[in-house]
Amino acid sequence: MCGIVGYVGPQPALEVVVDGLARLEYRGYDSAGIAVLTDGRLATEKRAGKLANLRAALEHNPRTADGIGIGHTRWATHGAPTDTNAHPHVDNDNRVAVIHNGIIENFASLRLELEERGCKFTSETDTEVAAHLLAEELKQQDGDLAAAMRSVCRRLEGAFTLVAMFANDPELVVAARRNSPLVVGRGQGENFLASDVAAFIAHTRDAIELGQDQVVELRADSVTITDYDGRPVKVREYHVDWDASAAEKGGYEYFMLKEIVEQPQAVADTLLGRVAVDGTLTLDEMRLAPSELRDIEKIVIIACGTSYHAGLIAKYAIEHWCRVPCEVEVASEFRYRDPILNRQTLVIAISQSGESMDTLMAVRYAREQRARVLAICNVNGSTIPRESDGVLYTHAGPEVGVAATKTFLTQLVACYLVGLYLAQVRTVKFGDEINAVIEQLANMPEQVKKVLSTVDPVRELARSLGEADTVLFLGRHVGYPVALEGALKLKELAYMHAEAFAAGELKHGPIALIENGLPVVVVVPSREGRGVLHDKIVSNIQEIRARGARTIVIAEEGDETVRPFADELIEIPAVPTLLQPIVSTVPLQVFACELALAKGNDVDQPRNLAKSVTVE
Ligand code: AGP
Repeated sequence: MCGIVGYVGPQPALEVVVDGLARLEYRGYDSAGIAVLTDGRLATEKRAGKLANLRAALEHNPRTADGIGIGHTRWATHGAPTDTNAHPHVDNDNRVAVIHNGIIENFASLRLELEERGCKFTSETDTEVAAHLLAEELKQQDGDLAAAMRSVCRRLEGAFTLVAMFANDPELVVAARRNSPLVVGRGQGENFLASDVAAFIAHTRDAIELGQDQVVELRADSVTITDYDGRPVKVREYHVDWDASAAEKGGYEYFMLKEIVEQPQAVADTLLGRVAVDGTLTLDEMRLAPSELRDIEKIVIIACGTSYHAGLIAKYAIEHWCRVPCEVEVASEFRYRDPILNRQTLVIAISQSGESMDTLMAVRYAREQRARVLAICNVNGSTIPRESDGVLYTHAGPEVGVAATKTFLTQLVACYLVGLYLAQVRTVKFGDEINAVIEQLANMPEQVKKVLSTVDPVRELARSLGEADTVLFLGRHVGYPVALEGALKLKELAYMHAEAFAAGELKHGPIALIENGLPVVVVVPSREGRGVLHDKIVSNIQEIRARGARTIVIAEEGDETVRPFADELIEIPAVPTLLQPIVSTVPLQVFACELALAKGNDVDQPRNLAKSVTVE
């Protein structure tokens, strides 16, 4: 959830750290803070609110920094988002500064213990225990910060990335991780630490991912990584294949606007290199042998939020193409209901960030039950793919806006590819049938472009609905998860009450909500192949219109049957039924974004949210 930056090197440390925080602000933005060494003394500055508040405070109180610095942007868990609760936290002698992402679950007992020994706490956070524990341990370990960190981490329970600096060792930053992300950026005569490579990509594209329960000692010319017992460990070094400009706004006012426009490219990139010269699908990173995939008797998809909606759509495609039963479940519920899993179960974990704690815990549970786990993920080297048996990366590039847009479309593409690949290895579809769908997929970037070129009226419509209290969304078949996604986008961005229903369920209760002027968005399935569903939803539109709803209908171009019942008609290109979500979701993203902007909301950083939810 929180964003973490650390730097050791010859550049002005304060600037490097604050610039890094700006790139990580999407991870949490209710307060921000830094610690640097000024003339050998620890100096901290922290402010509630967005990074701009911290920048203003630093301008007001400028300071020079020696060669190291750490910084934090927070998504509050323990203690309100105030100046005092913002990170870094320091010990009582102001010699050690600590920043933290995650939750220290045994902090209450540790705090009590520390207070009994005379420690004075200034914040309500769980993090502050780490600062006091480190100060105590430093005395035991002759001022060896890495040894102190290892010792403290052995006592902590829960999830954490901790980064610390010690005034007595002015050329060292030490960090540790458990269940929470941390990457090292290797520069020339300088090194970086961050929750995400975006923080240091402007300086270096050479990264090292830290494994579970590891500690890193960072100096300008060395990076030493050990486990919690001080033993050296093997690490994975990799080169980041996107550059800083990919994470910039590129002339748009908000990242979300840019990311919506990037969707055709993201879809195309995710399809790239998946088909061999002989026309067969090859999913290189999959790491699951065809024989293993042939053994599969059941598929369970686990995910959260938008990724869960991608999973719901995947179920239609996978069951239709592969004839394997497929369940979809929100990850936070999964392991608590004692699900039936075995070696013949394939669990597909969908996560943009690869760090959602709910999904990660579900993955671990599934692996304990011996299920095979395949991750669909956008962030290379993140925890979920690392802990899964196989992975299929989406190639959406960095997504900074909190609302998932381009990553959702690429998750859909990845799900379709997995479905087709399963159909291929299980020989339930002929090669030419699979190729026909791949060709249709290859055509999708053009179709998404087409939608984007016609969405101006959607913007206008959204602006006209700024005063509405509620918007309902209806869909059938794959249009139902699209409706859910449309409602989620409106909730998270415009802070409006929005609800989605399977259109057939309307008559079982929700139709009572319909009243004069209530905007209802209806996603109409393609007529091709699903004619019955199409006709049924046309009846649903008439039912709600008869009761006064203002109908906003998303339908294929040329679908004249819906026109008489649509107060507003949003036309999308005609594409095969199962692939329709790739095009029908786009106007809903634009709709929610524009409505939120009309209300004056920050669409990149909606209130109370964070891009990567690393707590359960
Ligand atoms: C969607 O706009 C949200 N940002 C949210 O629902 C998100 O999809 C969810 O938190 C899951 O994140 P993940 O894909 O990184 O696991």
